[in-house]
Amino acid sequence: MSRGLWDEIGTRMRSHGYMKGVERTVERVRRTGEIFTPTDLVIEMISEIPLDALGPGRTILDPACGDGQFLVAAKWVKVLHHGMIEADALTDIYGIDIMRDNVELCRLRLGGGTIVVGDALQPARFLPEQSEEDRRRMLALFGDASEPQTLFDFVDQEVAIS
Ligand SMILES: C[S@@+](CC[C@H](N)C(=O)[O-])C[C@H]1O[C@@H](n2cnc3c(N)ncnc32)[C@H](O)[C@@H]1O
Repeated sequence: MSRGLWDEIGTRMRSHGYMKGVERTVERVRRTGEIFTPTDLVIEMISEIPLDALGPGRTILDPACGDGQFLVAAKWVKVLHHGMIEADALTDIYGIDIMRDNVELCRLRLGGGTIVVGDALQPARFLPEQSEEDRRRMLALFGDASEPQTLFDFVDQEVAIS
């Protein structure tokens, strides 16, 4: 992908200010680890992977998506590099975050996608802030069984990430 396209993706990502949109107290950040990946670093990292990995039908899951820094970049690679329409690109994009306001912000930035409130380390755990829809989606993604219990088990089975 040309430098110009990466610059364009950076510009689109920066239309949302870094770590803006949700009040994050020091106590909250300490509890959740909410330090998002800066845009330049996201682009540096994504530009290192074969872009076919983000082609049509290739699923991307960020199990701790925050406000969607990686997912937003992935969407624009699908659209600007692979020529997908946004609606199709979004059907490939999945995110999980334990904080409802991050999930809402991520959905807003992406304009869709399957972004769910959940505990990625214990997918079957019920969170009070989950909606019925979040709960249903976590079950659809990871099942109801007590085993496997961690996201890494699912990744090993190539269920969550393709
Ligand atoms: C270091 S931030 C990374 C955000 C994003 N992936 C990025 O690179 O910009 C970690 C995110 O994980 C969320 N988080 C923490 N524990 C989690 C858990 N058990 N399940 C899902 N999300 C979690 C936090 O709310 C936070 O948004």
